[in-house]
Amino acid sequence: MRLSVIGCGYLGAVHSACMAELGHDVVGIDIDPAKVDGLNAAEPPFFEPGLPQLLSSSIASGRLRFSTDMADAAGSSVHFVAVGTPQKRNENGADLSHVYAAIDALIPHLRPGDVVVGKSTVPVGTARALAEKISLQCPEATLVWNPEFLREGFAVQDTLAPDRLVYGLPEQDNGAQLLLDEVYAKALADGQPRLLMDYETAELVKVSANAFLATKISFINAMAEVCEASGADVSLLADAIGHDARIGRKFLNAGLGFGGGCLPKDIRAFMARAGELGADQALTFLREVDSINMRRRSRMVDLTREVCGGSLLGQRIAVLGLAFKPNSDDVRDSPALSVAAQLQLQGASVTASDPQAVPNASKRFPDLNYTNSIEEAVRGADAVLVLTEWEQYRGIDPQWLAGLVSRAAVVDGRNCLDAQTWREAGWTYRALGRPKVPAMAPVVA
Ligand code: UDX
Repeated sequence: MRLSVIGCGYLGAVHSACMAELGHDVVGIDIDPAKVDGLNAAEPPFFEPGLPQLLSSSIASGRLRFSTDMADAAGSSVHFVAVGTPQKRNENGADLSHVYAAIDALIPHLRPGDVVVGKSTVPVGTARALAEKISLQCPEATLVWNPEFLREGFAVQDTLAPDRLVYGLPEQDNGAQLLLDEVYAKALADGQPRLLMDYETAELVKVSANAFLATKISFINAMAEVCEASGADVSLLADAIGHDARIGRKFLNAGLGFGGGCLPKDIRAFMARAGELGADQALTFLREVDSINMRRRSRMVDLTREVCGGSLLGQRIAVLGLAFKPNSDDVRDSPALSVAAQLQLQGASVTASDPQAVPNASKRFPDLNYTNSIEEAVRGADAVLVLTEWEQYRGIDPQWLAGLVSRAAVVDGRNCLDAQTWREAGWTYRALGRPKVPAMAPVVA
């Protein structure tokens, strides 16, 4: 099938490459010439495992190309809209200007029978408004809302083999569902569930899934606060409650909390939209979810001050991890970067490292010292902070590290190190939601 993908940021670039990998003929369209040139050279402007290889093979086969010209969308039968919906400046709501600009630019190139597929995360009600706009100017084109659930770091896998497909359809779909089934024929043949619904429900599926995930993380971080107050251990608690299949252990990792380009802005936009709909009371708990999440960052700064003997002034702090999560170079609303910057602002001298995110972090906070080497980051440090749970950091040998620092104190912001091993190697080990001194060594059954 011939497909166009409008917007080649994180979502659109991955979607374009994956659709081409599935055998479709794809043109990705973006207004940014530098991004388009990079993608045509199989060099995405962000780190995503597996994506460069996919781009290379599909571009070489002739099934994939990128362009700045919307006219190149003409001739495709399905047009995916994958532009960003960032948080508005100084407001909680989502900025939909890119979505409207993309639709306005696409409409003149639509042919009767074409299907426009919305993938961007939008406030409920947007799809119906866009469908009306499209039907006024091209009555024989149909809009489907098909939210995306990909996780950074696993974006290729999540797009090629999604755990579910959601189609938000109009009352009369004019064959749009069948056309989209053809696009996703492989996933459907593999037995992935496909759920059909109205526009509003499809839009809400996406934001409510993200709200649920954010709530789960903040729930365990709230328990971490209670554990800190009572001397209990949140890691043991999470393991124990996670055995209940109704609760599940996934997304119960206590630590610095959530960040990135989706969860924080999506829960805020959701609250703002609920307010516009007069349903604000239903989502007041998300305000608390957001507050718990932000409090973890301040607690991390306090814990660091504590291991430094009460003051951060002049302390040399090594920060390992800047990305909002491992396998990503994304520092948007990154808890790690926010803690690193706070420490520096409070008088510490921070040297930070990350396997991928140093270039992005140094653009946002040029005042920190950056290095690509763990060794350089920790040399002479008064405290080592692990703020993103990269495999490289989980596997650090504490004996080796102890020989490089000036004080063997580690603060584990992601509960990703083995406390006992580090303590046995002579380190003061502190972590969010865990006692200063373990009450008893955990017994593994
Ligand atoms: C999220 C959703 O998972 C995805 O379905 C949606 O399409 C986009 O938003 P992503 O932003 O890639 O994906 O990150 P995710 O893996 O969900 O992690 C979000 C944040 O939560 C990260 O900062 C991560 O470190 C944190 N997190 C995750 C925790 O603090 N604890 C956990 O147990 C899990």
